[in-house]
Amino acid sequence: MSSHRRPVLAANWKMNLGPAEAESFLDGFVARYEPRDDRTVILFPSALAVAAVRQAIQPRPDLRLGVQNVSTEQKGAFTGENSAAMAAGAGASFVLVGHSERRHIFGETDVQAAQKCVRVVENGLVPVLCVGETIEQRERGETGEVVLHQLRAGVSMLNHEAIREMIVAYEPVWAIGTGRTATPQDASDVHLVLRAALAGLVGENARGIPLLYGGSVNAKNASSLLAAAEVDGLLVGGASLDPVQWAEICSSSVQRIT
Ligand code: 13P
Repeated sequence: MSSHRRPVLAANWKMNLGPAEAESFLDGFVARYEPRDDRTVILFPSALAVAAVRQAIQPRPDLRLGVQNVSTEQKGAFTGENSAAMAAGAGASFVLVGHSERRHIFGETDVQAAQKCVRVVENGLVPVLCVGETIEQRERGETGEVVLHQLRAGVSMLNHEAIREMIVAYEPVWAIGTGRTATPQDASDVHLVLRAALAGLVGENARGIPLLYGGSVNAKNASSLLAAAEVDGLLVGGASLDPVQWAEICSSSVQRIT
């Protein structure tokens, strides 16, 4: 069984915490969070802080490392980009793909998300494919259609084995950084749709694919979201920047993935 087939608590630091800040974050966090073998904790620092985080978590193999983005290209003249091979070499095991900020601010397409998933898998890393609808799409009743389209497009170039090993994160755009969290029921409803679609692709093995919820998660609402049906973990932005709050979120009670 691969190590991520457990509830997953993932911190997306976005463009926050440089190397020195990441180090002091980790001093505070590791002092407050003891290793637990019933969950996986993943940190997604800025690419420039990956080396500092890797160094700081060396004594803590329970803490895993990921990057927030990689290029669709393997290597070459792509100024400012980082490849999946570089991410692997830098010690990352996971890569966020298709985060809504990449899609909506940087115009990343479903085709690029699919290509990035391929690069990630080719380099032995695990993609965390992010999907989620805007408020307008939700109000038009298109949530299911939007997330299914993003999911199917994102995995369209992966084989079954790679899909079985991936992670999917549902992050409604209207809940990201807004303080407006989806209810546990909202999250469950969408996670059920995603799980059914994954089952259509890989059958029974879909049960082992962690489905994370993200969007204004904090230490107060983490437990109720984690208790919701089909929610196997959390992808946390703002609240993961505070080591005390992040340690509290990582210590929430979790359900086993069956
Ligand atoms: P917030 O937790 O800040 O809403 O961000 C969620 C997110 O985008 C994580 O990837």
